[in-house]
Amino acid sequence: MAKIKEGLLRTHTCGELKKGHVGELVTVCGWVNKDRNLGGLHFVDLRDKYGITQISFSDYTGDLNLFKDISLESVILVKGVVGARPDDAINKNMATGEIEVRAQVVQILSIADKDTIPFLPYGAVRPTEELGLRYRYLDLRTKELQDILQLRSNVMNRVRALLIEEDFVEVETPILYKSTPEGARDYIVPSRVHPGKVYALPQSPQTLKQLLMIASTDKYFQIAKCFRDEDLRADRQPEFTQIDIETSFPTPLYIKKIVEKILIDLFKLPAGYSLPVMSYDQVMEKYGSDKPDLRYGLEQYNVTSLFANSAFATFADVAQNRGLVKAMFVSNKVGSLTRKMIDQFKDVVAPFGGKGVAWFKMENGAVSGGIAKFITDDILSTLYRMANENNKSDGVWLFIADNNHDIAHNSSDALRRFLGENLKLIGSEDKFLWVEKFPLFEWNGEDKRFYAKHHPFTSVAQESMDDFLSGDHARLVNCKAEAYDVVCNGYEIGGGSIRIHNQKVQDKMFQLLGMSESEIRGQFGFFIDALKYGVPPHGGLALGLDRLMMILARTNNIKDVIAFPKTTSAADLMADAPSVPAEAQLNELKLRWK
Ligand code: AMO
Repeated sequence: MAKIKEGLLRTHTCGELKKGHVGELVTVCGWVNKDRNLGGLHFVDLRDKYGITQISFSDYTGDLNLFKDISLESVILVKGVVGARPDDAINKNMATGEIEVRAQVVQILSIADKDTIPFLPYGAVRPTEELGLRYRYLDLRTKELQDILQLRSNVMNRVRALLIEEDFVEVETPILYKSTPEGARDYIVPSRVHPGKVYALPQSPQTLKQLLMIASTDKYFQIAKCFRDEDLRADRQPEFTQIDIETSFPTPLYIKKIVEKILIDLFKLPAGYSLPVMSYDQVMEKYGSDKPDLRYGLEQYNVTSLFANSAFATFADVAQNRGLVKAMFVSNKVGSLTRKMIDQFKDVVAPFGGKGVAWFKMENGAVSGGIAKFITDDILSTLYRMANENNKSDGVWLFIADNNHDIAHNSSDALRRFLGENLKLIGSEDKFLWVEKFPLFEWNGEDKRFYAKHHPFTSVAQESMDDFLSGDHARLVNCKAEAYDVVCNGYEIGGGSIRIHNQKVQDKMFQLLGMSESEIRGQFGFFIDALKYGVPPHGGLALGLDRLMMILARTNNIKDVIAFPKTTSAADLMADAPSVPAEAQLNELKLRWK
């Protein structure tokens, strides 16, 4: 379809002109990317997001002095005739490398202040992350970031089209709203009209999309902004975007099929591909993580009982205390551990509470080093059997033990990731996984209460309903949820569930999460009420768009895929947000700073 060009200052973009255009009078606009003034010969490389066009001044009859020293990044308009470059000046690596525009008219549209410009987006030196964020509009001029913006726009369009094909309806939900708990703190906005009252920005549209199901919308989606005040990491932002979906009358299979349709399309997976599935218990045992990176092996084994009667008191004690001992085998076929790496292990696990990593080596059929003296023949053959490895194949055995299972899992996950990276085991093919059969609750020993592992609207798995209704602590710990996460390359890229659609069960859930009757009424009364008036069984999922984009754009930094991201301390360096409110604003809101 021909695109509208009327009304633009230019006739062509800087990436468009080819040999076929030679002889045409054209107008191009863009940023001065390079300026080469070779005495008589003067060339400018003019750049826009589409490419670079060489401007030559050989035919120019005006006053060259006017823009002789034009600063890089200035914006100019050039009108001229497309000419073929002489053979020796053809640049095969450039889309426009066969032509140049011979300037007849030049207009300077905006001068870039060369004395204060903090960096050149196409300069030899990249800015620091801080400088890049402070002058984000300059950094965004780079091809890498413009390409990501384009990719993100394509992905959003494609996802919309795919969901609309399946009869999903895009519905916008409010941003000024009430708390929607997803495990983070809320961002709150004081109300001027209702002094002393606040809105909460949605951590997700969870209750709203459920209300849409109650409203008979049947299939909903939204590319939704979510806001969470939580500790930031390389794959987290305080405001981020979800591809949020919800449907009525689904089983988990339907939700999975919809998500798989999106992933097959975006990642060009084979038609009909379905993701492998593992239970939460399985991934935790094998990888110590509920979002394992399956681009490499390094599986873990539960060896607690193997060491219960061992002479190695550390492990035997952990086994006695119902702790967890995990083992991992790094075969020489996979990679060889250096002494330096082994020395680093302590620091790798320390941030997760791990006390260290025990090890021994198998070399030419003999054990040595570390805890070798405690490794009996029995232990050795069981270890190799567990690893499905040839007895006595060379390599290093690694062990993590802790009375606290979470510490043992988290430390072995950290160790596995360290090894994956340092032994360069990470394969190039994207690896997806469904994780399901999650626990319904997480017990927090410090504040002595249960938290929802996903969110409080997640359905109890059928087989756990009796345990749930019993309200008994020991039985609640083992309750499973009808929830599923989708994982790719070690990132949780989405999470969802079948929802509670029974008012009494929802009420009980809030109670078990430690809410009093008045808290439940105050926070969720409207929602509990809605569950009284005819509710279709429903379920859904949200994909983290930013994380999907990280994987598609091959970056480890979430900031790269967001036009105006925040720093890890949730600040916008460019606009200097958050900022101090004006006295008048505080007065209007009837607020006083503590
Ligand atoms: P959940 O909290 O799992 O589920 O979020 C869904 C997905 O959103 C992404 N995500 C984030 N991305 C960037 N920065 C963050 N701070 C951040 N937090 C989450 C992740 C995650 O898998 N309402 C439920 C969904 C549902 O049950 O339908 C929800 O929000 O990729």
